[in-house]
Amino acid sequence: MIVLGIESSCDETGVALVDASGSQVPVLLAQALYSQIDMHQAYGGVVPELASRDHIRRVLPLTQEVMAQAQCSLAQVDVVAYTRGPGLAGALLVGAGVACSLAAALGKPVMGVHHLEGHLLSPFLSADPPEFAFVALLVSGGHTQLMRVDRVGRYELLGETIDDAAGEAFDKSAKLLGLPYPGGPALARLAGQGDAQAFKLPRPLLHSGDLDFSFSGLKTAVLTQAKKLGEAMEGQARADLAASTQAAIVEVLVKKSLKALEQTGLQRLVVAGGVGANTLLREQLNAACKKKGVRVYYPELHLCTDNGAMIALAAGMRIQAGLAPMRRGYAFDVKPRWSLAEMTM
Ligand code: KG4
Ligand code: ZN
Repeated sequence: MIVLGIESSCDETGVALVDASGSQVPVLLAQALYSQIDMHQAYGGVVPELASRDHIRRVLPLTQEVMAQAQCSLAQVDVVAYTRGPGLAGALLVGAGVACSLAAALGKPVMGVHHLEGHLLSPFLSADPPEFAFVALLVSGGHTQLMRVDRVGRYELLGETIDDAAGEAFDKSAKLLGLPYPGGPALARLAGQGDAQAFKLPRPLLHSGDLDFSFSGLKTAVLTQAKKLGEAMEGQARADLAASTQAAIVEVLVKKSLKALEQTGLQRLVVAGGVGANTLLREQLNAACKKKGVRVYYPELHLCTDNGAMIALAAGMRIQAGLAPMRRGYAFDVKPRWSLAEMTM
């Protein structure tokens, strides 16, 4: 069962091919990715219309590249999968349109995949994949959620952000510090030279007793500190503020993840989404979970941020689990807002 996956929900065009034969974890045969970061950097953030146009330019050459890498022909593809949502409507329509046209031309079924299910299952492409059940911490640019995952297609939302996502907190704070888009990696780099104790920043909802998050107050606190510093907001002070911001975000993510593990009694934690690439988050989660006898699983670093492999993988795992709503009708829609809980079967 060869699955072609196409991701185009935001600012990365990703295409990949997986082999989902039998019941073993699907194997990644080839993947190609084009990041639009350089293009959007000039605007300080993603410009949706430019993103859509660039996906159009990239998706077919990337598909050809993947087929060549895997030495596979399109005729060998059994299913064409694409990200149906959530994401930018115009960007999603490019992947959906290309996937459905390709499938129609090949006479093969299509499958719309939930982007977050892709992130959630991405650690299954690692050399040491997790087993079900686990708690998943999903931390991306648009989402921050804790989920209980019992199997493919069974997702229970334990808690989520009531305002900004963790990635958004990184990105918006980075902007306030004058760092380029995307702010997360830039802020993390600068934080490496700073003192995380230098500024006292809030840890919103840390003691709320539930598993929800809130990051918008943190961004305001960073703004207040940045304003206070004014012209002095450079050099060491800037690095200190970056380090303090990162420490605040990471502390909340770590403590709430531990609470979710405690509440569910589960012994496995999966971390997925772009912020999962953050080194401090990984170090602190690893240390805290080790003490509790909990194993932590991450996607490989290059699969933390958006990619086609996770979309092909999620489609393959759904097919293997007998949950695949594969279609041979080629009319399509996209779901820019789409809760993962709706995918539970
Ligand atoms: O999962 P992703 O690629 O896209 C979405 O689905 O949103 O996540 C992107 C987010 C951005 O907010 C980016 O700043 C953040 O992940 N990010 C990081 C790091 N790498 C990416 N945040 C903190 N530290 C990093 N190393
Ligand atoms: Zn994503």
